[in-house]
Amino acid sequence: MQNFDNINQTRLTSEIAVYDSGVGGISFLPTVRRLLPAERFVYYGDLANAPYGDRSQDFIIERAREIVAFFRKRGVKALVIACNTATSAAAATLRAENPDLPIFGMEPAIHLAVKRGEKRIIMLATELTAHGEKLRRLLTAEAGTAEIVTIACPGLMELIETNLIKGETAAIKEYLQAKLLPQLTEDCAVVLGCTHYIFLRGLLPQLFPGLRLYDGNLGTAQNLRRRLAQAGLLCLDEGQSAAEELPCFGLPPEKFAAYLQLASSLKY
Ligand code: DGL
Repeated sequence: MQNFDNINQTRLTSEIAVYDSGVGGISFLPTVRRLLPAERFVYYGDLANAPYGDRSQDFIIERAREIVAFFRKRGVKALVIACNTATSAAAATLRAENPDLPIFGMEPAIHLAVKRGEKRIIMLATELTAHGEKLRRLLTAEAGTAEIVTIACPGLMELIETNLIKGETAAIKEYLQAKLLPQLTEDCAVVLGCTHYIFLRGLLPQLFPGLRLYDGNLGTAQNLRRRLAQAGLLCLDEGQSAAEELPCFGLPPEKFAAYLQLASSLKY
């Protein structure tokens, strides 16, 4: 656990950095802005190097270092890895190398689903998350609580990046049906273990009515608020620092705006 109790108070109004391999982390922004309305955020979508799910752990760690260096130059006060894959691959390394920067990650919401009493849970994730050590530990911790099936979804991130916003949902529906139908039972829950898949909150209930969905957005936002408050780094005065503007890097501005709008319309 990092100790950032002594971080300089002048950093109070600095930005909070959020990054992902592409548009996935945008799904986190409405939740975190609602919970921390006085904070300013800056977003990086590393589309030039996506998808992360098909990359090696070493590659993702290298990219994470470069992105942290970029954000450090801006003087951000905290970093959120709004990507399950990069959290699994790089969060521990980043924390060890940046003990003065509060770093938050994205967890598949398996524990939340178990706590809500789910007995059969299907976890959708990228290849790298599905085969990572972090998930293995998470599943070991929940052993015996529920039946948990992990499904790796190579190619799904790309469909969400390119097709979803254009309303071209046929290929996505076909993909989801092929992956989920063999595993779905009557009383089933799905954990969206990749931030891109959170954008499927509109489509999944259309395909599978009654399916309960879980993701890690609220948990991460709550953790961020709690830890910033403990460190005296939480902006409380909305009038002073709340900003409509949300700088974005790595993604075309119109794509960022379109997915931000889509994210704001998602139903929980
Ligand atoms: N959005 C990412 C995640 O949460 C990764 C998608 C990808 O680049 O493969 O895992």
